[in-house]
Amino acid sequence: MERAREKKLFVCEECSVESLQWSGQCGHCGAWNSLSEIRKTRSTRRKSGESLRGLVKSFNEISRGRLARLPTGITELDRVLGGGLVPGSVILLGGDPGIGKSTLALQWVAAQVDQIRVLYVTGEESLQQLALRGERLGIDSLPLSTMAENCLESILDQLPGYDFLVIDSIQSMYSENVSSSPGSVAQIRESAERLTRCAKEYDCSVLVIGHVTKEGTLAGPKILEHIVDTVLYFEGDDTSRFRLVRSFKNRFGSVNEVGIFAMTEKGLREITNPSALFLSGCERDNSGSVVLVTQEGTRPILVEVQALLDPSSLANPRRLCVGLDAQRLVMLLAVLHRHGGVSLVGHDIFVNVAGGIRVIDSGADVAAAAAVLSSLFNKNFPADTVCFGEVGQAGEIRPVQRGEERLKEAAKLGFKRALVPKGNKISRKVQGLEVIPLLRVEDLVSWLE
Ligand code: TYD
Ligand code: MG
Repeated sequence: MERAREKKLFVCEECSVESLQWSGQCGHCGAWNSLSEIRKTRSTRRKSGESLRGLVKSFNEISRGRLARLPTGITELDRVLGGGLVPGSVILLGGDPGIGKSTLALQWVAAQVDQIRVLYVTGEESLQQLALRGERLGIDSLPLSTMAENCLESILDQLPGYDFLVIDSIQSMYSENVSSSPGSVAQIRESAERLTRCAKEYDCSVLVIGHVTKEGTLAGPKILEHIVDTVLYFEGDDTSRFRLVRSFKNRFGSVNEVGIFAMTEKGLREITNPSALFLSGCERDNSGSVVLVTQEGTRPILVEVQALLDPSSLANPRRLCVGLDAQRLVMLLAVLHRHGGVSLVGHDIFVNVAGGIRVIDSGADVAAAAAVLSSLFNKNFPADTVCFGEVGQAGEIRPVQRGEERLKEAAKLGFKRALVPKGNKISRKVQGLEVIPLLRVEDLVSWLE
């Protein structure tokens, strides 16, 4: 038997705080005329064997079955999801209008539609537009259910028959329970909450697409990010065809993971080797050029650090740095002098990171030092060698995060040797890569001399 209790609530469009009574001004943020009414229906129905939500259960009795993940088959997407789609999870995919959210969503469901039953709901485009997009992506015949609908209740009615629901976009949905217009804070919040509840109830994953405002925040309350399990954001600018999908929150995987794609005329193409994206195509057979393995989120990226030393007649020789922290370079040069016994007086020093990328990672110290030394000694740094590590003021070479991952990426790109802080205890051998541990800057100097 179903007992439904209806509860009247008012929610502020500005700060999304709820109150039981209407008033002209929000008692929390002070905004005027910002309260709109929502009706909450609480169903107390529960059949046996239905969801266990709301039931008290002993911790020891909870089934600890492994979280089943369904790999999407799109490697870059699996990477940001933490291995694949988790049944019953809610994922928010945010980004600027036109960046490729709908394209990625369609490619995603096309990759999974053979495994699971998918319902793609479009609130913005017509079904014909959706079909034309599919044709453009070369995926015109799919066992995919589609629906052009904006009413949340009509969508939720369909939910029991599906394993994966795509909502494109949350800003175009409205619930009959809320009086304000689609895209308002109250509507977005209500839709997201109801979708999340149903996702857990029916074990149906939901992909929610959301537009980002010009300020870079998701149009709608920040609360949306708290409701969902995973938040993915699209990054990229108009001038470049490269698109980054970054995980900002993930209850089922690590955050700051990056998936890299390129937008082509046939949709998004994975960049399987993004780590080499910033390595110049030029031969590195000159002195002063060193390959560094840095980190973008948890992803290693290889960049080329270049140094040029030129005899100077200035009393205060120049130290110029592009793409690295200039203050750090000055410190590094002092350490090389004091502990490495290398005199750099009488030289203008220019350091640059090729490809216009900015490196913030302190693991760049060893690469900058190596580049300077290579230019000073006029000796090539081997082209098949990479390095990373932080240099301390006492001349010690300090470990950095994720040493093993960095090495794996270097090996994947065909590098043969790596100069690594000794403190980065590399437990497992990386296939095809000789690891040279460095304890102090003196080791680096003698290795390069
Ligand atoms: P879309 O996925 O519609 O963006 P969003 O849903 O984030 O608003 O992508 C729109 C842009 O992508 C549009 O400018 C056209 C371009 N595009 C391609 O370049 N190739 C393609 O195959 C597709 C489908 C879109
Ligand atoms: Mg779209």
